[in-house]
Amino acid sequence: MASASNATPDTLPAWQTLKHHAETLQHVHLKTLFGTEPSRWKSFTRQVAGLTLDLSKQRWDDDTLEHLFTLASEAGVPSAIEALLSGKRVNVSENRPALHTALRLPADATLEVEGEDIVAAVHESLAQMERLVSRLHAGQWRGATGKPIRHVVNLGVGGSDLGPLMVTHALADYRPNDIHPVEVHFASTMDGSQLADYLSRLNPETTIFVLSSKSFTTIDTLSNANTAREWLLSQLTQHGATPISAELVVRQHFIGVSASPEKMTEWGIADDHQLTFWEWVGGRYSLWGTIGLPIALVVGMDNFRAFLAGAHSMDRHFAEAEMAENLPVLLALAGIWNVNFLDIRAHSILPYDGRLEYFAAYLEQLEMESNGKSVTRQGQPVNYSTCPVLWGQLGPNAQHAFYQLLHQGTQPVVCDFIAPLKRYDEVEDPDTRRHLKAQHRLALANCFAQSRVLMLGDDALEDDGPRPEHKRYRGNQPSTTVLLDQLTPATLGSLIALYEHKVFVQAVIWDINPFDQWGVELGKKIATDTQKIIDHQGDLSRMDASSKGLIEAFWAAEQE
Ligand code: F6P
Repeated sequence: MASASNATPDTLPAWQTLKHHAETLQHVHLKTLFGTEPSRWKSFTRQVAGLTLDLSKQRWDDDTLEHLFTLASEAGVPSAIEALLSGKRVNVSENRPALHTALRLPADATLEVEGEDIVAAVHESLAQMERLVSRLHAGQWRGATGKPIRHVVNLGVGGSDLGPLMVTHALADYRPNDIHPVEVHFASTMDGSQLADYLSRLNPETTIFVLSSKSFTTIDTLSNANTAREWLLSQLTQHGATPISAELVVRQHFIGVSASPEKMTEWGIADDHQLTFWEWVGGRYSLWGTIGLPIALVVGMDNFRAFLAGAHSMDRHFAEAEMAENLPVLLALAGIWNVNFLDIRAHSILPYDGRLEYFAAYLEQLEMESNGKSVTRQGQPVNYSTCPVLWGQLGPNAQHAFYQLLHQGTQPVVCDFIAPLKRYDEVEDPDTRRHLKAQHRLALANCFAQSRVLMLGDDALEDDGPRPEHKRYRGNQPSTTVLLDQLTPATLGSLIALYEHKVFVQAVIWDINPFDQWGVELGKKIATDTQKIIDHQGDLSRMDASSKGLIEAFWAAEQE
C-alpha cells in the first residue's frame, strides 16, 4: 500500500527472496519440519486477548518468517496500520477512512479524524441503541394493538445480516435471564422464503422488524421490508373494533438502521426509531455499531460492550505489537506465503463448536468481498494471486462432507481449525455437565486429530503397515489452529478483530483496497434490467440466447 517506491509487491526485493526460498521449501514435508524442530509449537505459537494462535503446522520455517517480515516492511504494513487506525482515507476508491475500530474505542478515548473527535458520537449512537434495547428488554415497547413485543426480525443482507446472525448464534448462552423475553430472527433472502416462514408463525401484534441497510437501497432488504409492511398493515389495521392507522402500525413495528436518515424517513421509519451510522464504516465491518442491534438484543448491552472491549484489545495489540508477536500480521503472512509462494489457493474455515455455525459464512464475506480484487490501489491489474477461495462449515460435520477432498483430493487446501478450550462449566446438572464435557473432549480430539493427519498423512498412524494407494494419506496440508480460552463476548470480539486485521494486512501487501466492493455493483445493475424484461417491460431480443431461453421457460411456467 505505502511501499517506498509504489512498486507492486511482486517487484519488492523480499518477494523475490521468498520466491527462491519457496523453491527450497516447496518439497519439504511438514513431518520433516517437525522432525528437525522439536520446539516448533513453542516458536510458532502466540497468545493474546484470550486467543492462542498455533502457526506451527504452516509449511514454513524461521527464515520464511524473517523474509515475510521484510516483505511486510517493504510493503509498508506498519505505516498502513497507523493510517487505518488513525482514520486516514485508506478506502481510496471511495475516498474515505475505514473506521470500524473507532466503534470499539472506550468512551474515554479520543480519536480526531479530519479535525473532529468522533468517539463521543460513537458512544452517543451506542447510547441511542441502548435506549431501544432497554425498552424492548423491559417489555415497554408495545405494538400497535398495545401488546409488548416478543419477536424481532432483522431484515438485512451481507454485512447487515451475516455478522449479527453469526454473533447472536455464537453468544446465545449469554442471554440475560432477567429481561422480558424477546426472540431475534433473521431474514435475508430476496426470494422471501425465510420471511414467509416467519410470517406464517409469528404474531403481527408482538413482532417488530429491524430494517438494516447501510445504503437503504438494497433490493433484497427492501423487498422483504415491503412484504413485512404489507403483512402488518393487512393484519393490524382492521384488528379489533377500532381501526388502527397505517402510520401507527409502521411507527410501532419498524426500526431502521442505516447511514441514510433521509431514506429511512422517506420509507416511513419514525425519527426516534432510526439508528444511524457512518459512511466510514463498511457494511461487512459494521456489526460493532448499530447494525449490532440484534446482538445487543440477544446478549444485553453489558455483554455487547464486553464484545467491543475484546475487539479493542485486539486493536491495541495490532497497533502496538512487533510484527513477530503480532497475531493479525502473522496470520496474514501465513496466508500470503500459502497463496503467493506455495500456490495454495483454497482456504477452509473449520470451527469445532456448534455455536460458531455461521462463522465461516461471515468470514466468506469478510475475506472475499474485501480481498477478492484484481486491481491495485493505483488502478493497475495485478499479476499475482490475491484472496484464496474461502469456505467452511462446522468441522465435525465437514468431516462427513468435504474432508475427503482435504485428505485425498488433488487440491492443496489450507485449513483454520477454531475451538474453545473450556466448555459447559455453567451447566448446572452434574450428570448432564459430565456428558456434555465428554462431548467437548470428543470434539477437541477430532479437531486436533484432523490437523495432525492433514500434517503427517499416513505417518499419523502408529501401526502403519503397507496399504493400497487408495488408503494412503499424503499429508503435508498446512493448517492454523486458533484456540479460544472459552467462547465469551470478549474472546469472540478478539477473534473477529483478528480476522479483520489479517484481511487488512494482506490487502496492504497485495496493494489492493479491501474496503470497496465494486465487483457486486454490476450484478445489481444487470438484475434491475433483467427484472424489467421478466416483468414484460423490457426488450427480450437484447438478451443472449441462454438468458432468453431461461426467461421464456419462466414465462411458460407462469402460464401453466
Ligand atoms: O452486496 C454487497 C453489499 O454491498 C455488501 O457490501 C453489504 O454488506 C450488503 O451489500 C448490504 O448492503 P446494505 O447494508 O447497504 O443493504
